Amino acid sequence: MKETVVSGIRSTGKLHLGNYYGALGNFVKMQDEYNCFFFIADLHSLTTHPTPGDLSRTVKQVVIEYLAAGIDPEKSTIYVQSDVPEVTELYLYMNMNAYLGELERATAFKDKVRDNPDNVNSGLLTYPVLMASDILLHHATKVPVGKDQEQHLEMTRTFGNRFNRLYNVDYFKEAFAFSYSDKLVKIPGLDGNGKMGKSNGDASCVYLTDSADVIRKKVMRAVSDSGPTELNQPKPEAIQNLFDLMRVVSTADTLAHFEDLYANCNIRYGDFKKQLAEDMVLATEPVRSRIEDITNDEEYIKKVIQMGAEKASESARKTVREVREIIGIKKLY
Ligand code: TRP
Repeated sequence: MKETVVSGIRSTGKLHLGNYYGALGNFVKMQDEYNCFFFIADLHSLTTHPTPGDLSRTVKQVVIEYLAAGIDPEKSTIYVQSDVPEVTELYLYMNMNAYLGELERATAFKDKVRDNPDNVNSGLLTYPVLMASDILLHHATKVPVGKDQEQHLEMTRTFGNRFNRLYNVDYFKEAFAFSYSDKLVKIPGLDGNGKMGKSNGDASCVYLTDSADVIRKKVMRAVSDSGPTELNQPKPEAIQNLFDLMRVVSTADTLAHFEDLYANCNIRYGDFKKQLAEDMVLATEPVRSRIEDITNDEEYIKKVIQMGAEKASESARKTVREVREIIGIKKLY
C-alpha cells in the first residue's frame, strides 16, 4: 500500500517561481511514489473574507497552474476543498476536543491577531482544526509543507491521538512534514532579501503568468548595488540572490561566465540582468504556454475538478462514516 500525501494551498491566486521550483516540483516528484491529494483550501481562505468573485476565480487559477506545472490528474487527486463538504463535518467533531488554550498558543494565530486585530474570528482560531481535518480525512502520513506549518502538523497529531485515546481506538495515523527540500533549490526574491514570496510584494515575485515583458521589467528593476570594488569578494545578499536565480534558469557556462566577471570586478549588472531575464523567460516559456492552453480548455478543467471531487469524496465519505460510528452518531430510525 502506498502511503498517502495530503497538501493544501490557500487559494490566493497566482503562483510564482518559488512555488514552481519548490512545492510544485516536490508534488510532481511525489505523485509516482505516493497516493497524493492536492487540494485548494478555499474554506481556509474564508478567514480573510475574499469577495465571492475573487474566491472562485483564484481557485480555478490554482487548478490551472497545478496542471501546467505537471501535476497529473490521473496519478494524483487534485480537488477543491469545498467540493468535499465531509471535511466540515470532521472539523466539527475534531473541534470538540481541540482546546482553547492550545489554539490560542499557535504561532500563526498569534501572528494573525497581531497583524489584523480587527478580524480575530473563530475560524482563524480553529484554522488548525480544519487543517487537521483535511489531513485526517484521507489518513495521510506525509504532508509536504514548509517550516511555518510544522506547528499545525504537530497539532494535527495531537488531535488525532487525542481522538484515538478518547474513543480507545487506533484509528487516526500520525502525519509528518515531508519534503525533498535538501535537494531543492532556494528561490530568492528580486527585492534583495529573503525568499520569493507574495508577502514581500509583487515586485519581488515572478509569477508563472507574467508575460515575457513583465519578467524582463521585474528583473531589470531587481535590487542590486554599485558593483564589487575588490577582487574575489563575497557577494552581498541581493547580488547572491540574482546569482542563485541564474543558477536555476541559466546554463552552467553562463553562470560561470558571470561568476568570473564578478570575481574580476568586471561585471556590468545591466548585462547580467539582461541575460538573467532572457534565460528566465526561456525557462518559464513551457509552463506559460501550458497555462494558456489549459485556460482555453474549459472542458478539461471541468473534467479534472469533477474527477478530483469524486475521488476525494470517496475517501472522505468512508472516513466520516467510520468516525460517526466510533463516536456513536447513529441514525436511530
Ligand atoms: N495551512 C496551509 C498553508 O497555509 C494550507 C493548508 C490547509 C494545508 N490545509 C492543509 C497544508 C492541509 C497541508 C495540509 O500553507
